[in-house]
Amino acid sequence: MNVLQPSIRRQTKIFARSISLFAVKQQQRRQQKWARSGIILALAGAAAAATTTYMCTPHISAEKSSEKAAGILSDIGVWAWGYNGTKLVSPQSQKEAIKTPQQIPFFDGMEIRDLRLGEDVGVAVTSKGDVLEWGTGFDESTSIPQFILKSHNIKSVQISRGRIYAVSKSGDKLLSIATSKAEQLQEQKTGGASKWFFSKTSPRQVKIPMQRGENIKQISAGEKHILILTTNGRVFSSATGSHAQYSSEGQLGIPVLLDDDSSILPEDPHEISTLRGIRIAQIAAGANHSIARTEDGKVWVFGSNLYGQLGMDYSINTAFIPIPALLALDRLYNTRGEAKVACSSIAAGGDTSLFTVTNYKKQTDDLWVSGSGLHGQHGSGHYAHTLGTPQRIKSLCNLPILSISVGKRHLAAVIDTHSESSDQRQLMFWGGNDWFQLGNGKRSNIALPSQLKTDNVVSKSTSKFEETVVCGNLGTALYWRRI
Ligand SMILES: *[C@@H]1O[C@H](CO)[C@@H](O)[C@H](O)[C@H]1NC(C)=O
Repeated sequence: MNVLQPSIRRQTKIFARSISLFAVKQQQRRQQKWARSGIILALAGAAAAATTTYMCTPHISAEKSSEKAAGILSDIGVWAWGYNGTKLVSPQSQKEAIKTPQQIPFFDGMEIRDLRLGEDVGVAVTSKGDVLEWGTGFDESTSIPQFILKSHNIKSVQISRGRIYAVSKSGDKLLSIATSKAEQLQEQKTGGASKWFFSKTSPRQVKIPMQRGENIKQISAGEKHILILTTNGRVFSSATGSHAQYSSEGQLGIPVLLDDDSSILPEDPHEISTLRGIRIAQIAAGANHSIARTEDGKVWVFGSNLYGQLGMDYSINTAFIPIPALLALDRLYNTRGEAKVACSSIAAGGDTSLFTVTNYKKQTDDLWVSGSGLHGQHGSGHYAHTLGTPQRIKSLCNLPILSISVGKRHLAAVIDTHSESSDQRQLMFWGGNDWFQLGNGKRSNIALPSQLKTDNVVSKSTSKFEETVVCGNLGTALYWRRI
């Protein structure tokens, strides 16, 4: 649900006007792609050679002190706030809610690759690609994060329907691990029976019918579905969890599966065939809906549109969209079909969607929202149940947006307020605040994006690390991600 979009605004200023912004952006994307694929190739060998360890006991102090000794990570860690009834945001505190950003001491000085806050578990990936888990949904008896997976060089994680989905850095595999510790132990036992007696058990692997050389680029999970984007720009979708019972709102994008829900098997990915031939660059899953952004900035939507979260006005015919439909972005700008606008990033959570759109004619970046807004998610100052046609968030127009995140009913945008004299990032929050998930110490919802004052947080971003916000279910986390 969290998305990172490198800002081009700063760099583009130095380019002559005659060079089109689009070309610049495309070139930048290509460079990033090459840089990334270089990393992926380099790590593929390492991942393949690594031995498998599942359910390890923590060796935190050793790992942390060695990283600290390296002297590069002294200022980073994880801050969290919001609902703590599931021991997600302050594992050591006795409080039911944490009202303002607080550091989770366990993560002091630790570099994090990815982090998710689900309903009752939190999951984090360390710089080595090991996976940590905490929360009452994991283990009632302990509040300290514990390693659940080591030596798989994991890149990113998602949580859905009692499972953690973890992608390897090389993108060659998608693993599925139970969120509950008891189930993890159970699966370890049963899974181990068929293995060599001396090897530790590996978690269950989700088989994706990928081609030779094709790898997983990104995953995004909703309440009960997962989208899988590959390096070939193809999108696969699957039901999540362990049980076949499934009611679909069309979020899989595969219409034949909608007619007969019993045919939907969990963890059985199929390619979304109607998107075949269209190169997808990014995917985002809300609770019951799906969004896919193409390389050239078009947006395809499918799934539940009960709140207008697909960017279409709700009607009997548009309540559920089982086949990907193209969102008419240019209509938002009245450009009449000229390819002058392009979506540059997407994010979805709960029943709400966010799109950043670059208008090349006017050379501006805008943030658009659609879907549920009962808790102020529209950022318009108003509370509205639904929103079909996307609305521009006026107070965040024409800003260098670094990243956006959508939680169950609260949202965040990180703004690059970099200047010669400061290296600041502005954290903007809005939406539901019933469990202090906006971090301002108050409990009322906020219908206009407002800056979170983080005096107690080291709010600088270095050239190596970028401040990253994750809006979860009823909590929020802030960590530093290596760029
Ligand atoms: C998603 O759909 C299910 C029905 O399948 C519904 O019970 C649930 O409330 C929906 N979730 C959201 C956040 O709309």
